[in-house]
Amino acid sequence: MRVIKARDYDDMSRKAANIISAQIIMKPDCVLGLATGSTPIGTYADLVERYQKGDLDFSSVTTVNLDEYKGLNRENEQSYYYFMHDNLFGKVNVDLKRTFLPDGMEPDAKKACEDYDRVIAATGGVDLQLLGLGHNGHIGFNEPAEIFEAETHCVDLTESTITANRRFFASEEEVPRQAYTMGIKTIMRARKILLVVSGEDKASIVKEAFYGAITPKVPASVLQLHNDVTIVADEAALSKVSL
Ligand code: GLP
Repeated sequence: MRVIKARDYDDMSRKAANIISAQIIMKPDCVLGLATGSTPIGTYADLVERYQKGDLDFSSVTTVNLDEYKGLNRENEQSYYYFMHDNLFGKVNVDLKRTFLPDGMEPDAKKACEDYDRVIAATGGVDLQLLGLGHNGHIGFNEPAEIFEAETHCVDLTESTITANRRFFASEEEVPRQAYTMGIKTIMRARKILLVVSGEDKASIVKEAFYGAITPKVPASVLQLHNDVTIVADEAALSKVSL
């Protein structure tokens, strides 16, 4: 596990964008695993800027996203489909036919999950997986549990996640209760993993996840077992660990 300390959110975003850019430059037809949430927004903005300057070409890149809310359609501004188009896909020259997310509007959870596992397998595997970190240690929407769920599955979101996501919706009732998410095994199969984390409110979970016991109760802790993980964290997020 490599930990790169950034000064602040902007510096974290720039450093993460450096790593993603290097991946695209070294392997133009790479498969990027992408994440949503507020943390990677600055990273995406930085990548868009590099594309606009002519320094990055997304035309051969394939993307697979970690997760999607169950029951939100693509036009819903809170869907992860909308988020990805708003922050990245609509602003760079990625071929939209090669951008994939779980189908949140498929009501049959088994079908939605199996279909998505087939999509991921067909890409040939993720070269670089970008991750954020939930306050309870979730990655994607793999919530704290008794076991690590391997493949794409439908999750009941925890109260803490529903509360954390509340700020994006008009009322708590509108926050979806379920989501489809890539499983831990799929995330762990990525050749490289890049996790971005910012802010003092994440300092405790950073310590627990990366310097504590490996347990499905803190899903991100499993990343300690991956052989190519880079964590780009700002000083505030690292304030409870000594490097
Ligand atoms: C969301 C997403 C995760 C994300 C996490 C943290 O619920 N499903 O992929 O990493 O929560 O979000 P944020 O970066 O806004 O703190």
